[in-house]
Amino acid sequence: MSDLGSDAISEIERRASEPMALHDTRVAQPIELAIVVPTYNERENVPILLAALERVLVETEWEVMFVDDNSPDGTAERIRELAVTNPRIRVLERIGRRGLSSATIEGMLTTGAPYIAVMDADMQHDESVLPRMLERIKTEPLDVVVASRNIAGGSMGEFPRNRVRLSNLGSRISRAVCHCDISDAMSGFFVVERTYFKQVVPRLSGTGFKILVDLLASSTREVRVAEVPYHFRSREWGESKLNVNVELEYLLLLIDKALGRCVPPRFVLFVLVGSLGVLVNLACLTLFFQVANASFLVSQSLATFVAMTFNFVLNNLATFRDRRLRGRRLVRGLFSFYVACSVGALLNVSFAEFLHRASIPWYVAGIAGMAISAVWNYGLNMVFTWRRSRA
Ligand code: GDD
Ligand code: MN
Repeated sequence: MSDLGSDAISEIERRASEPMALHDTRVAQPIELAIVVPTYNERENVPILLAALERVLVETEWEVMFVDDNSPDGTAERIRELAVTNPRIRVLERIGRRGLSSATIEGMLTTGAPYIAVMDADMQHDESVLPRMLERIKTEPLDVVVASRNIAGGSMGEFPRNRVRLSNLGSRISRAVCHCDISDAMSGFFVVERTYFKQVVPRLSGTGFKILVDLLASSTREVRVAEVPYHFRSREWGESKLNVNVELEYLLLLIDKALGRCVPPRFVLFVLVGSLGVLVNLACLTLFFQVANASFLVSQSLATFVAMTFNFVLNNLATFRDRRLRGRRLVRGLFSFYVACSVGALLNVSFAEFLHRASIPWYVAGIAGMAISAVWNYGLNMVFTWRRSRA
């Protein structure tokens, strides 16, 4: 323990009891721009990005909020070291969570600055366009200014061809759900007015990578957007985190936006998988009963079994991809899925039978039975088969 002399302690107490202004006469300028930077394994890039921001933002009062999801490479610790001597820098570290969109949203919620920029940490976004973006949103009646790679003066740089195609496809699809017409909805680089952000934040999905699509599609009115061109740079350090999960999460985001949040998008996927299962069931029944001449009872039992297994595999790969089971837990999950779905089937039949006896038309009774078992299967499997693992 350090040995503080009693003189030193009373000096500290004396200072603490004095009004602040006596020993701190600096007048702080209000912060105009907050830059939110989601990070995952970007240790090497953080100091490079900070130096770049300092170079271009000389005429702006700014702060930067990093949101790190407990990166194994110690990104958050590196940022904290730098933050100790630089009050512009802050870091929000999330433990046991992942997700670019949700990280960005939470970062945006931490600031009171009137303008919020979002950019990646990996230097692929050209920081030198920030002052121009800020200027436009300050002087024109705009909600969002997007840095675009798809208008004159911008480019995808050396982005791999298949990624360019994917990005363009994503942009085209997203135009259907966004309340505006922009060329680069896949951009992760933009400035938004805080008042606009506050209006839409209760309706944000927060799933996946495409925070801009989420922000634009969550508006109840036309969004006022402008675009500023820039050249997308290549990554020098670290690697991209975009993978199949990201594509799937984009699909979930689009479902969510298209259905207006009435049904959970995961449920929609679960039902889609279930419908495919019905087809598999029918195909197997034909094969066993018609082709292999097995008895109807045996054929239908086998077909149901195959369909259930098929559904389990597909749900594990897609619907519950973020909670994907492997190894021993996969086997355990499969049995839990069989049990849950068998009970679901019993429920389906007995409920439909009950309705049918109550003189409800047979097809309505049938559909109601299926609906109730779909909800049951979804709920039970979410809680038991693909239960959220503790971080
Ligand atoms: N906190 C947090 N959590 N940050 C993350 C996560 C996560 O789960 N995943 C990625 N990031 C951070 C990265 O550290 C980086 O700063 C930024 O988010 C973008 O991730 P990259 O892995 O570099 O993505 P990309 O280069 O493949 O994709 C970029 O281009 C796309 C357009 O084609 C991003 O800007 C996307 O938003 C954009 O859609
Ligand atoms: Mn990147």
